[in-house]
Amino acid sequence: MSEPVFILAIESSCDETAAAVICNDEIRSNVIASQAIHQYFGGVVPELASRAHQQKIIPVVEEALSKAKVSKNELDAVAFTRGPGLMGSLLVGVSFAKAFALALDIPLIEVNHLQGHVLAHFIKDNRSERKQVPSFPFLCLTVSGGHTQFVLVEDFLKSKIIGETLDDAAGEAFDKAAKIMNLPYPGGPLIDKLAKTGNPKAFHFPVPNISDLNFSFSGLKTSFLYFIRDHVAQNPNFIEEHQADICASIQYAIVEILIRKLKKAAEYTGIKNIAISGGVSANSGLREAVSKAGKELNWNVFIAPLEYCTDNAAMIAIAGYYKFLHAEFADQSITPLARMN
Ligand code: KG4
Ligand code: ZN
Repeated sequence: MSEPVFILAIESSCDETAAAVICNDEIRSNVIASQAIHQYFGGVVPELASRAHQQKIIPVVEEALSKAKVSKNELDAVAFTRGPGLMGSLLVGVSFAKAFALALDIPLIEVNHLQGHVLAHFIKDNRSERKQVPSFPFLCLTVSGGHTQFVLVEDFLKSKIIGETLDDAAGEAFDKAAKIMNLPYPGGPLIDKLAKTGNPKAFHFPVPNISDLNFSFSGLKTSFLYFIRDHVAQNPNFIEEHQADICASIQYAIVEILIRKLKKAAEYTGIKNIAISGGVSANSGLREAVSKAGKELNWNVFIAPLEYCTDNAAMIAIAGYYKFLHAEFADQSITPLARMN
């Protein structure tokens, strides 16, 4: 049997400073420091995010190594998120990973954040029961704060995008709706929570008709803005009095847009292995709707545990592991990329 491979992974693309240690495909630690500071501004402030990463990266990495009971000298490689994301945030993680790999004289592995979200389905851990992992090819709906795309995944390191949003991402639709309702950032998890006691049919929002396997959320955002504005003009307490119903109804509309297209994409590709990933895949309405559609249409549905849906370094570690097996290493000249597909 070959020696186990230990990889330290770093994720710093947005407002979570995260580090994880993996042994082959089994996660040993997964540490995330969220940045509460952005709540005061109703969204991520890039400059503040970079500074917070700089403060947190060393303690987060130390905690990840100590929780994993792995010493620096046992590491075989350092994986890091190269992009996409906020340039200042990425720079902290990339510079840290480069310096760490150089000091230990071990390989560097660059990971695309979105590929990390997709490969999160292959993370093994000793806490949850090992569920079935997707078999190739599978169709993955990646829904996050910055992206909404259909990925046709042919192998661990081979995939193509077959549809995406033409404007806002699904996570942005949640966050912007929350902002319009004066809820704090990030709004997605809060809308999910409040929606649980609301009626999803209380208010109706239009589902756009967009061609191919693409999405659009900007029309929904505008109609939601006008809806709130008009009702508040008549009743200043409208939001407070109907909060749960509004949340349930907007969540229903966002999930409906996603699920209709997912059914179309499954039919178009003929693929029945269906996965969802990214922060919005933590949404309980989407998780239920995908499971329900899976039962109706005989899909094999793959939904990751909550901790691997929103940004984390475990997903960067698993992607790093598969790249390690293929000896796909980066060199010290590597730089972050704010945009990557
Ligand atoms: O993947 P992620 O953590 O970061 C990016 O790569 O963007 O996704 C963050 C997005 C945010 O827009 C957040 O509001 C949304 O995922 N989100 C949710 C839920 N949890 C996170 N949206 C709806 N329901 C949730 N439970
Ligand atoms: Zn993400």
